[in-house]
Amino acid sequence: MQLFIDTANLDEIRTAASWGVIAGVTTNPTLIAKEGRDFQAVIHEICQLIDGPISAEVIAQDAPGMIDEGRRYAAWDPHVVVKVPMTEEGIKATKALSSEGIRTNVTLCFSANQALLAALAGATYISPFVGRVDDTGGDGMALISEIREIYDNYVMTTQILTASVRSPNHVTMAAKMGSDVATCPFKILQQMFRHPLTDRGLEQFLADWASVPVLSGRA
Ligand code: E4P
Repeated sequence: MQLFIDTANLDEIRTAASWGVIAGVTTNPTLIAKEGRDFQAVIHEICQLIDGPISAEVIAQDAPGMIDEGRRYAAWDPHVVVKVPMTEEGIKATKALSSEGIRTNVTLCFSANQALLAALAGATYISPFVGRVDDTGGDGMALISEIREIYDNYVMTTQILTASVRSPNHVTMAAKMGSDVATCPFKILQQMFRHPLTDRGLEQFLADWASVPVLSGRA
C-alpha cells in the first residue's frame, strides 16, 4: 500500500518528503484555504516537492465546468490528478476527463455503490472517507473492505485511496484490507513512527553503549 500525505502545507510536505516513503499528496478546498495562498502556486510548489500524484479539486458543480477546470489543472503539471466530487455531474466529468487520459480522484465517497460508479466512469482513484463514516456512527473500514471485494470481483483498476484517516489504526486496517493507498494528515504519519518500546529500547541501548570502553572503538 502506498502512503500519501493529506495536506497543502509545504513545511509538512517537505518534512514528509525527507522520509522517502511518501508517494503522493491529496488536497481539498478546506486544506488549500487553510494556507491562505494562491491555489495554482501552492499546487505548483507541491509538485516540486513530491514526485507522485498530487490531487487538486475542482470547484465547479456542473460537468462542463468541472471538465474545463480539470483540463486547466492537468495542464499545470503532469503530477496533477483532478479531484472530482461524487455527484452525477462529477461522474460525467470523470468519464470525460478519463477518456482524455487525464487522471481523476473521485472524492466524498461514502458507499460501495458510489465506488462502483466511479470505477465504471474510469476514475484513477476513489476516495472513501472512513473517518467521516465513523463520525456518523458507521464503520468506515467496512466500506474499504466492500469496495475491495467489488473491484476484485470485476478486476476493476480504479485504486482505492483510503481518506479521512483519523488514526494509525485506520492505516493498518487499510493495508490489511488491500487498500491501494492511504492518505494521512501529517500528525498521523508522525504517530506511525512511534512506539513506546522503541523509545525505551533505544534509551537502554544508548545507556549500555556509554559503558563500552573507549579502546574497543566506541564512537
Ligand atoms: C481526502 O482526500 C480528503 O482531503 C481528506 O482525507 C478529508 O479528511 P477529513 O474528513 O479529516 O477532512
